[in-house]
Amino acid sequence: MNIKIAPSMLSADFANLEHDLKEVEKSGADFLHVDIMDGHFVPNITMGPDQVAQIRKTTTIPFDIHLMISEPLKYINQFADAGADIITVHVESEGDIQACIDAIVKKGVKPGLVLSPDTPLKVLEPYLDQIKMVLIMCVYPGFGGQSYLSGCTQKIRECRKMLGSRSIDLEIDGGINFNTLKEVVDAGANVIVSGSCLFKGQIQENMKRFRKIIEG
Ligand code: DX5
Ligand code: ZN
Repeated sequence: MNIKIAPSMLSADFANLEHDLKEVEKSGADFLHVDIMDGHFVPNITMGPDQVAQIRKTTTIPFDIHLMISEPLKYINQFADAGADIITVHVESEGDIQACIDAIVKKGVKPGLVLSPDTPLKVLEPYLDQIKMVLIMCVYPGFGGQSYLSGCTQKIRECRKMLGSRSIDLEIDGGINFNTLKEVVDAGANVIVSGSCLFKGQIQENMKRFRKIIEG
C-alpha cells in the first residue's frame, strides 16, 4: 500500500512558517495537515479561512483541512475557497453531517469524516459511499504532543476491514512518532498525520526516518 504522510502544521514554528513549509515541501510530504480549532468544539483556537488562504500562497502541497469546530457547515465554503483539497468534519460536531458532505463535494473538494477516540465506527456506515477519507483520532482532539491511545490500533484494523475495496483513505492523527508509526501502518492506516515528532529537529531527516520505518 502507498503510505502518505501529512505533517501537521500545528507544530510548525509560526514565526518562521514559510521556512518550515518549504522544508515540508522539500521532504516530499503528500499533504499539509491543517488543524482548525474554534475554542468551542475543542478547548484550543488556531486560525480561520483568511489565514489558510494566505498560507496557501506559500506552498504547493495539497491542504488536508481538519475542522475541529462546532458548526462546520457554516464555514465549509470559506475553507474550500481558501484552498482546501480535502476537508474533514467531525461526526460529533453539531448539525447535519450529510449537508456538510454535500457542501464539500459541491465545492469540488474531497470530503472526509473524523472520529474522536470514543466514537464507534458504525456512525460511518451511512456515508461510506460518499466520502474519500476517514480520519481516526488517536488522541482527544485539541492539542499536539499527546500520547497515542493504544486502544486505537484495533479500531484502525476494524476500520480498514469496514472500508473493504472502496477507495477511501484511512488517516490517523495524534501521537504518531518513531515508536508508534509501524503499529498504525500495520493495522491499515495509509495517511499518517504527525506534528510534534516531525517538526522537532530536522523535518527532512525525520521524514526520511518515517519512510524507512514504513518500508520496514
Ligand atoms: C490534535 C490535532 C493533530 C495534532 C497532532 O487535535 O488534530 O493534528 O497536530 O499532533 P501530534 O502528532 O503531536 O500528536
Ligand atoms: Zn488534526
